[in-house]
Amino acid sequence: MNMSIVEKLSEILLNEDKKYPMYQRYRALFSLKGLGTPEAVDLIIQALGKENESELFKHELAYCLGQLQDERAISTLKGLVSDSSEFVMVRHEAAESLGAISNLECIEFLKQHLADPCKELAHTCEIAILKIKHDHSVNGGSSEIHSEKANNDKSKYGPIDPAPAETKVTDVSELKQILCDQSLDLWTRYKAMFALRDINTPEAVEALGTALLNDTSSALFRHEIGFVFGEMGRTESVPYLQHALNKLDEAPMVRHEAAEALGAVIGEEKALETLKEYAADKCQVVRESCEVAIDMYNYENSKEFQYAII
Ligand SMILES: [Fe+2]
Ligand SMILES: [Fe+2]
Repeated sequence: MNMSIVEKLSEILLNEDKKYPMYQRYRALFSLKGLGTPEAVDLIIQALGKENESELFKHELAYCLGQLQDERAISTLKGLVSDSSEFVMVRHEAAESLGAISNLECIEFLKQHLADPCKELAHTCEIAILKIKHDHSVNGGSSEIHSEKANNDKSKYGPIDPAPAETKVTDVSELKQILCDQSLDLWTRYKAMFALRDINTPEAVEALGTALLNDTSSALFRHEIGFVFGEMGRTESVPYLQHALNKLDEAPMVRHEAAEALGAVIGEEKALETLKEYAADKCQVVRESCEVAIDMYNYENSKEFQYAII
């Protein structure tokens, strides 16, 4: 790879002179993620160490480290999880990334945060532990743990999911029931969520949207619905996403994910209008998410060859 390209990406990513807008830094980050080289991983780790970095950008850096599954990122990610002064979204994403890297030795560490006062983090750790056990289990979820990873495939949408899709239940209304049942554990409800995403019909959107609007059990759960709506990119999800973004008392991580998902819906002017409306929101994470989402929307609706810079 031509060093000058990596150097340029590094300059945009680190943004020492503060001259690059957030959307451009996102593009640089996803270019590095696409490269996936040790050098790219090192740069992302370096960017995570920067002072006064935005919560949004930091959480995306942590996310990319998990998706790259490079074990050298583990100590950095553990440091972010343990730091109670760190942003909620960053701690959550770091814990989820430990789940994505799926090293058995991280289970003990994640267990230490199951009772963390930050609910979003505690819930993420609960799911990440089960994800790692699942990946290492021959029977997909049995308690028998093996040292070799058996099942850590990427979803058909690209990213490594925090939980596998439920395969035993295929009926949308049954999956909806599981998804909306707040007495069930998050792992079970996540599996129903990813099954509904894979079904990807208007009925599946309705089920997911109902849970997004009505759930009171976990901001983490609601933000993940926003994330899968972004993957699905369906116009039917727009009213649900608008509703979540409109709710000013909703957790910023949910509103952030709703904004980014709106940017992924193709050909829906209403989505773009909503994003423009919230581009000056009081909450920095929401404002920056809208900026990135407007760029994504313009990309999705243009003939540009690729989102990442290279
Ligand atoms: Fe997340
Ligand atoms: Fe996010």
